[in-house]
Amino acid sequence: MTVSTSAQPIVQGKDLNKSFGRVIGLNNCQFELFPGEVLAVVGDNGAGKSTLIKCISGAHEVDSGKIFVNDQEVSFKSTHDARTHGVETVYQTLAVAPALDISENLYLGREVRKKGILGKVFRSLDKKHMREVSTKSLSDLGVLTVQSITQTVETLSGGQRQAVAVARAGTFGSQVVILDEPTAALGVNESARVLQLIKDLRERGMSIILISHNMPQVFDVADRIHIQRLGRRAAVVTPQSHTMNDVVAIMTGAMTVPEEEQQLGPVR
Ligand SMILES: Nc1ncnc2c1ncn2[C@@H]1O[C@H](COP(=O)(O)OP(=O)(O)OP(=O)(O)O)[C@@H](O)[C@H]1O
Ligand SMILES: [Mg+2]
Repeated sequence: MTVSTSAQPIVQGKDLNKSFGRVIGLNNCQFELFPGEVLAVVGDNGAGKSTLIKCISGAHEVDSGKIFVNDQEVSFKSTHDARTHGVETVYQTLAVAPALDISENLYLGREVRKKGILGKVFRSLDKKHMREVSTKSLSDLGVLTVQSITQTVETLSGGQRQAVAVARAGTFGSQVVILDEPTAALGVNESARVLQLIKDLRERGMSIILISHNMPQVFDVADRIHIQRLGRRAAVVTPQSHTMNDVVAIMTGAMTVPEEEQQLGPVR
């Protein structure tokens, strides 16, 4: 294992706190994502996984603590704001608009207008351009056949929909892709496809945060595993350093890992 401690995180959270009234979502939580890695975030229900990524992706504002992207402190006011800084989030349910076709989904919120008066005054969309780029990016990712680019997303299978959402993140030069339980509702083949897509995105140099309860999937795809417990980071381990049983034990507090045995630096 090559450990370089000099690499800077692409996303970093320091001492993050977030409460909802009396309920504590994050309690002095630390977080690091390094360039080009898949970081799994695991933990029991209510451990603060979604709260953590919502704070990072601009859906929530933290009560205190600092978030850095590429070494710059950020304070995203919305997910759109995060997206313009290269941080794209794929939510299980909100990922796609069912009545729109695939290319319209890829370009949702980023539509390209026609050149000249048609675009400026009449706000006409350049559908041809958007379809060409969509077709290319989906076939690059090996996701869908070219004929189906004008299919509405509601006619796609769950896995194809999720693939469109992931492809959307991969099409616009996002640096960081956050996936909250992307395979929770998918069958075996569809899940395998989404996992392959995650590996492909990593090959293209993207950094990926994967929230999942599925241990075999986590152990298949993750470079490092951030274990969240009671609103904070209990440990960071790797599929090589610890077993699935260990990870479950850390999740429940039955096992603790001294800092020197954790994988706090990058492995890639
Ligand atoms: N909008 C909210 N209002 C009030 N409490 C919230 C809100 N969002 C989260 N919480 C609380 O914060 C804590 C952390 O919730 P969070 O959704 O981050 O957990 P999680 O780790 O994503 O769990 P799961 O595995 O079930 O998705 C929980 O106690 C939850 O009830
Ligand atoms: Mg959650």
